[in-house]
Amino acid sequence: MENNPIFKIFESFPRQGPGDDEHTEKAFSLIAEPPKGGGEILDVGCGKGVQTMALARLCPSCRIIATDIHQPFLDAVDEKIAAGGYSGRIKTVRASMDDLPFKEESFDIIWAEGCSFIMGFENAVRYWKKFLKPGGYMMISDLFWFTENPSAEAWEFFAEIDPTIMIEEKGFEIIRNAGFELAGSFRLPPRVWVESYYGIVKGELGNLLEKFKDNEGALMIIEGLEKQIEIFEKYHEEYGYTYTVMRKPL
Ligand SMILES: C[S@@+](CC[C@H](N)C(=O)[O-])C[C@H]1O[C@@H](n2cnc3c(N)ncnc32)[C@H](O)[C@@H]1O
Repeated sequence: MENNPIFKIFESFPRQGPGDDEHTEKAFSLIAEPPKGGGEILDVGCGKGVQTMALARLCPSCRIIATDIHQPFLDAVDEKIAAGGYSGRIKTVRASMDDLPFKEESFDIIWAEGCSFIMGFENAVRYWKKFLKPGGYMMISDLFWFTENPSAEAWEFFAEIDPTIMIEEKGFEIIRNAGFELAGSFRLPPRVWVESYYGIVKGELGNLLEKFKDNEGALMIIEGLEKQIEIFEKYHEEYGYTYTVMRKPL
């Protein structure tokens, strides 16, 4: 999997998915009782760690473990840790999100921006729950449909790349059925998709096409990204990222 050119392509971007500090902070504000005297945060699928650093600023007393499957992303996080003087309280651990090397009930907060789709939203909600302390919070942001009747072109596009995408309300139901209280949710505004992600991807497309001109697999992924942006420009009212914050009961 590590040889999948998708990782190499995504190394070119500052973030590996849409989002920004403002919305990490907004999601964090839905945690009614953030740890004050120290707490443990697990950042799953951290990519290059933009949200990891935001979490470190939002919770100055917390220790954070940032995990990802791709070591070069973790190396980028380690550079940020060193540059920001965070080595005492943030560490990186290479781990697959569906096989986490931690004890049950270890974390006050589990954070997962834009990555639960990799193991499936429901699997993620249910599997990660056991790593949370009772009363702990989990934040997952991922892609949901905002309408029961999406346009055929958008539906067909996602049916091919990720047929598991569900309507937002179904996501809330999964959270409740897994035994969580839903503390709150909001949608990421389309402008943030453009500013934090698609605008940057678009600007890099020329370089990427040149860099990977002899790599057929990479070229298919780059074409897919171009198509993804086109679909988003047309249909962003119909789907997007929803941030969900849930609490494991005491
Ligand atoms: C869409 S990116 C989101 C990254 C980051 N949270 C952000 O919002 O910028 C998904 C991340 O999941 C990581 N990933 C992919 N498969 C994984 C796995 N099995 N276990 C852990 N992380 C994985 C990727 O390397 C990537 O960093």
